[in-house]
Amino acid sequence: MGPHILVVGGTGMLAGLVEALAGDGGRLSLLSRRASAHGLPGRAFDCDYHDAAAFTAALDAAVAGQGPIDLAVAWFHSLRLAAPRRLAERVGREGAPGRLFQVLGSGVADPAKPGRLRFAAAVADGLPACRLRQVVLGFRLADGGARWLTDAEISEGVLRAVRQDLPLSVVGVVEPWASRPPAPGAEAE
Ligand SMILES: NC(=O)c1ccc[n+]([C@@H]2O[C@H](COP(=O)([O-])OP(=O)(O)OC[C@H]3O[C@@H](n4cnc5c(N)ncnc54)[C@H](OP(=O)(O)O)[C@@H]3O)[C@@H](O)[C@H]2O)c1
Repeated sequence: MGPHILVVGGTGMLAGLVEALAGDGGRLSLLSRRASAHGLPGRAFDCDYHDAAAFTAALDAAVAGQGPIDLAVAWFHSLRLAAPRRLAERVGREGAPGRLFQVLGSGVADPAKPGRLRFAAAVADGLPACRLRQVVLGFRLADGGARWLTDAEISEGVLRAVRQDLPLSVVGVVEPWASRPPAPGAEAE
């Protein structure tokens, strides 16, 4: 039986990642508001991560059905929620740590606002079974300017980060910061 892989927000820009991870033979759980509507491989749990009780219930249902979470990949628009911590608490177990890949917008790399990566990492503080990995979504320098990453680039880059298993990965670049394209809605903190 393969590992239990749980993806939060896997129906959008991370859909390609989900497809690739499904090929690895693990047991996939997908959590998002309309996870069941996307026909992606894996068990779907529909829940809004702003609703802490619903999100916790979905996590618990995923663990009850597929076992402890060995690998989690999560994209939350904000970390100022209960949900990221609830997830971190369910990653790994005593004697068998799991990994949580936290996908983050480029804003965490803003040199004018140091400490954002550390703030984000706090979701796993005091949880020895949860090994946190951070993946920052940057931008691409191209044709003398810069642009945001495509969904395919995001899925491929996060997948590479999972495979490489480094504590911190950057998809694209976050420097020079002054070249960062104007922030789209999805890049808001
Ligand atoms: N640095 C970069 O280049 C960068 C960074 C971030 C985003 N982007 C771009 O911006 C686009 C839009 O980003 P996005 O994050 O809005 O879209 P997205 O990744 O396409 O969708 C967000 C994901 O989170 C889920 N989700 C959203 N709100 C939720 C909630 N309240 N509870 C549970 N799940 C929730 C969505 O599924 P449900 O709808 O089923 O809930 C979906 O799976 C992306 O397609 C990407 O190309 C680029």
